[in-house]
Amino acid sequence: MLPDHGRPAAELLAELSSLRAADLPVRGGKVTAYVYDTGLPEVHEAAHRAYAEMLEVNMLDPTAFPSMVALERQVVGAVAETLGRPGAPGIFTSGGTESIMLAVKAARDARPGATRVVLPVTAHPAFHKAAHYLGMEIVPVPVDPVTYRASVPAFGDALDERTALAVVSAPSYPQGVVDPVGEIAALAASRGVLCHVDACVGGWLLPWLREAGAAIPPFDLAVPGVTSISCDLHKFGYAPKGASVLLFRDAELRRRAYFASAAWPGYTIVNATVQSSRSAGPLGGAWATLEALGREGYRELGRRTLEATRRLAEGVRKIPGLRVLGEPEAALVAIAGSPEVDVFVLADEARTRGWFLQPQLSYAGIPANIHITVTGVTLAGVDAMLEVIEEAAEAARRRGPAEVPEGLPELIASLDLDALDDATFAELAASAGIALGLPAGNGPAARPGTAPEPAPEPAPGMAVVNAILDALPAATREAILLRFLSVTYSPPA
Ligand SMILES: Cc1ncc(COP(=O)(O)O)c(C=O)c1O
Repeated sequence: MLPDHGRPAAELLAELSSLRAADLPVRGGKVTAYVYDTGLPEVHEAAHRAYAEMLEVNMLDPTAFPSMVALERQVVGAVAETLGRPGAPGIFTSGGTESIMLAVKAARDARPGATRVVLPVTAHPAFHKAAHYLGMEIVPVPVDPVTYRASVPAFGDALDERTALAVVSAPSYPQGVVDPVGEIAALAASRGVLCHVDACVGGWLLPWLREAGAAIPPFDLAVPGVTSISCDLHKFGYAPKGASVLLFRDAELRRRAYFASAAWPGYTIVNATVQSSRSAGPLGGAWATLEALGREGYRELGRRTLEATRRLAEGVRKIPGLRVLGEPEAALVAIAGSPEVDVFVLADEARTRGWFLQPQLSYAGIPANIHITVTGVTLAGVDAMLEVIEEAAEAARRRGPAEVPEGLPELIASLDLDALDDATFAELAASAGIALGLPAGNGPAARPGTAPEPAPEPAPGMAVVNAILDALPAATREAILLRFLSVTYSPPA
């Protein structure tokens, strides 16, 4: 695999660019998840250059590279000022998951003996991951079946002396609604429990939507009882990936997230994050994006995003067979189908028309749906997006729902997936008509290989795969997804 002789940079870049031809496009607004596009190329260009400038600075040691301390103070300061507590202490992390991991660790270490994290079923799985890594236990509570907001009485029942942390989302990703932050934070405080607001997706969006006229309830560090909040700059901050900020009520709680070790004969270790050596590139990129846009830039992006979200939700409500779940309060819209219009088929149909809409499986009584993240670039193409959704819904109606082979979910659920090797698993999937391979956007089955495909093929249908997953219990879905990942990252047969 490793060449004997080094290759020229131009050749390498050409190879990267041809590999990327099979990727979903990261700009333009036709991919409605994973990527955040301002529609302003010069802003992204400034971020790329700043990223490259800081790329080789190692955030391991603040005394060696004071530039990154200065940048982190500025970035954290801007977020604290915008999220309700100017001067609040914070940490720049690599993303939502790392911010959440550290918020959970801080809570665990602040309340020794309390090992539970109470959260709504709509909270991001990063909390489950954190609990798994940190030896804690998740206590899920239901959401209201109409509004999809966390149930306050259910929190009231669940919070007790075993609870280290109560979690609310602003907004939750699946339906884009803001949990009752004030009520739950007050409940938590009255029981001596810390309360984290997961504003990973909304922290750098809701303030601008509010300025643009949206009715956004209080959700940030100014709310009594809120003890930490996460805000991803690589989402609606539009920074390159690897950028999130975690803020704390006070420096004492932040110290609980830190880690130091002098238990070896090497250099002393003191880490603010899970990673130790890490590039300051993402910090440079985030700083440059904030500076290049400024308050005015974000306000304008907020205005456009709000208008696009309203137009999208209104338009979807007029399409027969579709409905919007809840009242989207941010820029995330979840669209459910009906017995006539299968949303998984709709997603496939949209894909063949060049649009990626993200399928979400049913869970905890919430129906399967497709998820659209509206960003700064969406407004310019919102009519085209609505047309595609309408056409795809019509095509889905003509095709009918995805058919799950009879008995297959039961058969899969009865298998001991851990006992199969990857090759047998791949064969089994193939016998059910599912080609496992390198996924692009949850799906197409281009085999991983050295020779890149020149042009992106439309994804083969994922509707049946999604329908099968949808019919399985969550634990079986997880086992299948892990096997899928393992096969994907194994050398091609
Ligand atoms: C509400 C929420 N929390 C946490 C995360 C996890 O963020 P990341 O993918 O940056 O780890 C996401 C990602 O979409 C999210 O929407």
